Amino acid sequence: MKKHQEEAVILDNIPIIGQDTYRLILQAPMIAREARPGQFVMVRVDKSYDPFLRRPFSFFRIDKEEGIIEIGYKVVGRGTTLLSQKKRGQTVDLLGPLGNGFRLPPEDTSDIWVIAGGVGITALIPCLEDLRIKRPKAKRVLFYGVKTASELIPSSFFKSLCHEVLYSTDDGTMGFRGVITECIDYHVQKGEKLPSVIYACGPLIMLKHIARWALAHSIPGQFCLESIMGCGLGACLGCAVPGNIRHGNSEKGYVHVCFEGPVFPVENIRWDEL
Ligand SMILES: Cc1cc2nc3c(=O)[nH]c(=O)nc-3n(C[C@H](O)[C@H](O)[C@H](O)COP(=O)(O)OP(=O)(O)OC[C@H]3O[C@@H](n4cnc5c(N)ncnc54)[C@H](O)[C@@H]3O)c2cc1C
Ligand code: FES
Repeated sequence: MKKHQEEAVILDNIPIIGQDTYRLILQAPMIAREARPGQFVMVRVDKSYDPFLRRPFSFFRIDKEEGIIEIGYKVVGRGTTLLSQKKRGQTVDLLGPLGNGFRLPPEDTSDIWVIAGGVGITALIPCLEDLRIKRPKAKRVLFYGVKTASELIPSSFFKSLCHEVLYSTDDGTMGFRGVITECIDYHVQKGEKLPSVIYACGPLIMLKHIARWALAHSIPGQFCLESIMGCGLGACLGCAVPGNIRHGNSEKGYVHVCFEGPVFPVENIRWDEL
């Protein structure tokens, strides 16, 4: 798979949910052609090199025919604030696609749970789309948690993507009151059939909880991790996390989120050491 550095034209940059989450639509035909769900791009937010480092973002939509990619991003600091001020017609420099995306489950998979926390939903939407097309017989259930209802992507968005959406909000303004892991515990206790595979993306605390649960029940999973990134290319070691990928004779070691990830099989991360 080829990586490209590409000057992408901004087709639109608009709020999607709440005040601080945006959808950046980019004409980037070379990257769109190669991109897969779960991979990411490094964005140079400004030509002035302020901020100095590129910022990583997952693909929210990939349109290979039109040569368009989308990013869904939350404003959290300097880079994303500057990005939110970019206007249609301006350009941003991209590097990508990077990393390893979501792998498909076996053909005979019957029940898939896709678990999203907050802005983690953005990486899972192209994954859901891929599962819909390539594993059409599997039942796809989305568990989607946020702090409050105004942060949710509306349910109409998911109609064609999954069979069922179970929401949770911390303040109870929509769906289950509490965090998404409590919502899952509640449904499991009620007798919900356990999944054959899990796909997850969201805050680390959520991923750790689900990973322990999946491992305890021997349920395979594909987990999309975030970490602070310097290069995105496996060169700076800034994104290393404790992992279980074999290095030489040693079982333990560290994995690069940018290079071996950001999507990992659940057993490849040492969750208790994160
Ligand atoms: C592979 C990958 C995919 C990502 N995809 C998305 C996405 O689709 N949408 C989205 O909104 N965000 C995504 N992120 C997180 C995003 O990269 C950061 O929010 C962004 O870099 C923050 O830049 P900033 O200059 O605004 O914030 P800064 O001013 O640099 O930092 C503000 C706050 O954000 C935290 N932060 C900074 N970088 C990261 C990071 N890489 N991961 C976690 N926390 C960080 C800092 O610790 C600090 O608390 C992804 C991160 C990775 C590693
Ligand atoms: S970000 Fe530099 S090695 Fe991963």
